Parts: sequence; structure tokens; C-alpha cells
Amino acid sequence: MNERMTTVRTIAAARQALREAPRPIGLVPTMGALHEGHLALLHRARSECATVVMSLFVNPAQFAGDEDLATYPRDEAHDAELAGRAGVDLLFAPDGAEMYPQGFATTVVVAGLSEPLEGTARGPEHFHGVATVVAKLLNIVGPQVAYFGQKDAQQALVIRRLVADLDIPTAIEICPTVRDGDGLARSSRNAYLSDAERARALGLSRALRSAATAIAAGERDSDAVASAARRELERHEIEPEYLALVDPQTLEPVVHVDAPVLIAVAARVGRARLIDNLIAAPEGR
Ligand code: PAJ
Repeated sequence: MNERMTTVRTIAAARQALREAPRPIGLVPTMGALHEGHLALLHRARSECATVVMSLFVNPAQFAGDEDLATYPRDEAHDAELAGRAGVDLLFAPDGAEMYPQGFATTVVVAGLSEPLEGTARGPEHFHGVATVVAKLLNIVGPQVAYFGQKDAQQALVIRRLVADLDIPTAIEICPTVRDGDGLARSSRNAYLSDAERARALGLSRALRSAATAIAAGERDSDAVASAARRELERHEIEPEYLALVDPQTLEPVVHVDAPVLIAVAARVGRARLIDNLIAAPEGR
């Protein structure tokens, strides 16, 4: 446990604690159920910032009515212990009423980027919820730097756009996806997987790998690349919600792979909804 870590639950207390904290302040927003992916963000923040803030808030606004808000894994005591060990100075863990008091009426909409992929599968309201809570967290903490994971590639693009468009003076750093040794991307939702489901879930990262291998072998037709990935998903009895090759900045569909491409996949495995992605570049690009 970091003896120095303070936990605050109100916006006023967070502002007070940070008023004279040494700069730069680094913020790592999370919904808890911390794993190695989160810890990598915290370590990066610790190595670059004088003050490290982690927020822990399971944001109801980004869950659709039929999603797993009620069952989302929660263990604040364990998360606080891991955060303390990772060198977090301030843990901001508000409740719903602190973030969304009676009368709350504002939604931040990042048009365009919120709509494809996750926006189609979960509804664009998902990213409206993300953009709104991240805008609030950046305003509450006032960090010079905020850290996000490439695991949620579309979320990272939405947040970059949000910060640019609203002139929020925070640098956004995107950290690489942390995986288990066999390739499965770390996710809080992996906790839902049985052993058999975890073996099937490997299909996502393997599908992305086989797509990247096809591109490296010279395949340029995105349908053919996607077919290679789909075969791997089928081998693992996975029916994807989407499997797409898109531009890594605009998320527009790619037909011919002649520049780096974001390959993104989402699928349900048991009761876990999992996402993963990879950027693959054709030879020499
Ligand atoms: P959460 O899913 O808890 O993730 C917190 C941060 O950890 C995000 O930036 C996410 O991209 C990153 N992350 C998750 N798994 C990762 C992995 N395997 N490797 C690297 N980074 C990983 O994303 C959210 O929470 C929320 O949407 C939030 C931004 C906190 C807003 O509510």
C-alpha cells in the first residue's frame, strides 16, 4: 500500500487536494477491476508525472439498458491496494450522485467517430457517455497529461477529438494493449469467462494476427484479409458482432490496404462482450 495515497469521493475534495500538488499532474481514468492493462497506464503516468491521479467510477452513462452495469466487477478495496502499490497519489472515487446530481442535463457528443464499430454495436450513446464523463474528469482534475489504452482504440480517438474540439489543455497519451502470454487482451470483463470460454476467447487475438499475417504476406484486398480473420473466429466458434478494417484515424472502411489499417473485432463469448484490435501495416508503410 502506498502510505501516501489519499482517497477522495467529492469533486470539491479532489480540487482541494490538487490545488498545490506538484505539476505535471497525470490522470488515469478507470472503471476499476484493475488488471495489468490499467497498471501499465499507472506505471507510465508514475514515470512521467509528479502527481498521479486515478479515477475509479463505473460510469452508468456509458452502459446501455441491456448491458452489464449491475454485474460489472467491483472491488474498490483491492483496486485501492493495487493503485497504492503502483504509486498513485490521489484516488478519486465518486458515487453516481456526485457525478450526475439531480438536474444534470448536459451530454458531450463527439459526432462521426462515435458512430461506427462500437457505436453501431452498442449505440452511439455509449461514446456520448464516455465523452461526457471524461470531459468532467478532465475538468475536475485538470491534468497536464491523461493516459488511455489502445485496447479501446475508438474510445482513444473519440477522446483525442473531444480534447482538441473543446480546447482542453491536457495531452492525451495512448498506451499499447497489454496481453496475457497467449495473446488474450487483458480486460475487466475476462473475469466473466469460464476456462472453456477463455480458450475460445483467444480466437479474437488470433483472428487479428491472421489478418495481419495476410497483409504482411502481400494481401491487399480487405475482404480477403477479413476472410482470413473470420476463418480463425470460426475455428473458435466465435460469431463476431463486427470484424472491420478501417482507417486508424477516421475509422472509415478500408477497401484496399495500401497504408496502416486498424483491424477491429467485437464478439460475445459466453456472457462477456470482448473487443480487440491491431494496427497492421503493409510492407514498407
Ligand atoms: P476501463 O475499461 O476501466 O479502462 C480504463 C483504461 O484502461 C482505458 O483507457 C482502457 O483503454 C485501458 N485498458 C483497458 N484494458 C487495457 C489493456 N489490455 N491494455 C492497455 N490498456 C487497457 O475505458 C474505460 O474504463 C472507461 O470508458 C473510462 C475511460 C474510464 C470512462 O468511463
